[in-house]
Amino acid sequence: MNAIYTVRHLSKKFPNSSGEGSEALVDINLEIYEGECLVITGANGSGKTLLVRILTGLMDASSGDALYRGTPVSKCLPLIRRSVGIVFQDADSQIVGETVEEDIRFGPENLKLPKDEIENRVRDVLKTLDLEGKKETPPRHLSGGEKRRLAAAGVLAMGCDTVIMDEPFANLDWPGVEQVLTIILNLRANKKTVVILTHELEKVLAFADRLLILAGGKVRDQGSPGEVLDRLDPAWGVRDPRRSYLKVEDCAWL
Ligand SMILES: Nc1ncnc2c1ncn2[C@@H]1O[C@H](COP(=O)(O)OP(=O)(O)OP(=O)(O)O)[C@@H](O)[C@H]1O
Ligand SMILES: [Mg+2]
Repeated sequence: MNAIYTVRHLSKKFPNSSGEGSEALVDINLEIYEGECLVITGANGSGKTLLVRILTGLMDASSGDALYRGTPVSKCLPLIRRSVGIVFQDADSQIVGETVEEDIRFGPENLKLPKDEIENRVRDVLKTLDLEGKKETPPRHLSGGEKRRLAAAGVLAMGCDTVIMDEPFANLDWPGVEQVLTIILNLRANKKTVVILTHELEKVLAFADRLLILAGGKVRDQGSPGEVLDRLDPAWGVRDPRRSYLKVEDCAWL
């Protein structure tokens, strides 16, 4: 298996009031393999978003190496911008166009693709993500789920071969979750590499090739989802979703 990303001994410190610096990521070692669906889970503040910010060059590590196809991330940012798409946790931060269609067109235009190619891609993703009826709508008028779909549309139109989704299910109702899962299955069918950061494991576990657990800024375990969940330590703040909810009282989290 080809590794798209290789991370070795990566740490990230932020200055704190004592001047010592608190470590938000500690000695991270991992690979992300071409064509896989990797789910990264962990409690709030465990370091999921931070790790992705470093992998995509939005933030520098304090020490260690993050390699994209063997090259340090900081040395291949233009390639990463073209090849790795992120659907951010906060969809609002990703909106750039005055209308849905303009927003989707922005990425391919930036890539300086031929006009015909841009139009084809925009038309295709509007259809795939069921946004045709909204193409003239200002993105700020969309619902939370529709904004997530729009962000995914932008990434798809760029033709990225790796797609990272940060908390893609946050604030979505059941149909919204189904739409996001459909996007994920679509990406997989098109042989894209998919990385999903979520604490809503039950929604995506069935589609994960590998599961990685972050807790307190450290990688605690990674491997096949079933095996990792069998080894779960309650201290990591991750709940095993493989429960049967046959009775109402089974739904209790306490
Ligand atoms: N710019 C920053 N300055 C200081 N601390 C930061 C900064 N960015 C992140 N952190 C800290 O790093 C830790 C990890 O944050 P991160 O956003 O990666 O968590 P997360 O796992 O994505 O959480 P969530 O599930 O809530 O999205 C947190 O404790 C956070 O406060
Ligand atoms: Mg986060």
